Amino acid sequence: MPQEIPFFPQQEQPPGFQAFGHFPMRKQKLKSSQKLAVVWAHRLSKAERRLLASRLSNHIRMLNNSTSSTSVTNTVQSTVDSEDVKRHAKQADEWWNPSGTMKLLHTFNLLRVPFIRDGLVPPSTERTLAPLTNKSILDVGCGGGILTEALARIGANMTGIDASRELVDVAKQHSVANPKLLNHRPTYYCTTIEEHSEKFCNHYDAVVASEIIEHVTDKELFVKSCIKTLKPGGKIFITTPSRTRLAQIFIIYLSEYVCGIVPKGTHEYEKFMTPNELTFLLERNNCHVELIHGIVFNVLTNKWSFISSTDMIFAIQAVKYEAGK
Ligand SMILES: C[S@@+](CC[C@H](N)C(=O)[O-])C[C@H]1O[C@@H](n2cnc3c(N)ncnc32)[C@H](O)[C@@H]1O
Repeated sequence: MPQEIPFFPQQEQPPGFQAFGHFPMRKQKLKSSQKLAVVWAHRLSKAERRLLASRLSNHIRMLNNSTSSTSVTNTVQSTVDSEDVKRHAKQADEWWNPSGTMKLLHTFNLLRVPFIRDGLVPPSTERTLAPLTNKSILDVGCGGGILTEALARIGANMTGIDASRELVDVAKQHSVANPKLLNHRPTYYCTTIEEHSEKFCNHYDAVVASEIIEHVTDKELFVKSCIKTLKPGGKIFITTPSRTRLAQIFIIYLSEYVCGIVPKGTHEYEKFMTPNELTFLLERNNCHVELIHGIVFNVLTNKWSFISSTDMIFAIQAVKYEAGK
């Protein structure tokens, strides 16, 4: 049996988690049946606890998925947090309102689109209006297509996938109505990355996962599946908040609860990752991390910028190793 490596090294367990075998469970959200299981589990050996924890989590995930109208066909192992997907689906009508609840994702394009472009086409090459021509890119968790369309407009052959049927419908309708996409209309699917990776193995030149990994339940499976869809030598671009107290204060308390610029309940601190954890996940899944940038949003100027500190949000660019290397 291959040895399982804990996702969070023991000393880096985020607050609110307790080690339950190797699987981190959140203390404050246990239901009574789960509490019973925890008490009972104390009588089991470590190996038995580990097995029980993983079975319980899969079971709960399957139950959650089967009651969701927005999620797609379920597999036993899934990255989907159905409650989270439903929460995002509630924003469907607001998705393309540039001053609405998705405003930050709209303005974020000014930073992330050049970041992805320069990662795929070196800045030294001659600039054209469509620098991503002939690049096939998968946008994982595309929502209503804000980033997908922006990349299509600079020439990329885009595929967007999302677990929410409502948001995929919004993305399709918006792209059909956008005359600027005439020659580069994205293809959208309502599916999860783990399902998509089964059919589209070694397929894309790049995978983009912007502001999604902090919403998934199984980060290892998520990263593995993203990388599976990449051609050898292809690149993956991820942006996500950092698991720091600073990010918790600004991204959760201030943005969601004080200023109300992000819908309440969008983020859970315990699901955030540190740059080290994400680097570790990518590198142990056949990738080499090429770049890590810190990112910050200035509420006064309404602008996003790259900074050296990765304490708030960070962007990672990694390349999948060529076969045999
Ligand atoms: C914050 S939105 C990001 C939207 C888009 N990436 C952007 O930046 O404009 C996160 C999206 O991920 C989707 N999502 C969450 N978990 C998912 C999963 N496991 N597979 C596919 N989509 C997922 C949600 O439905 C939601 O639309």
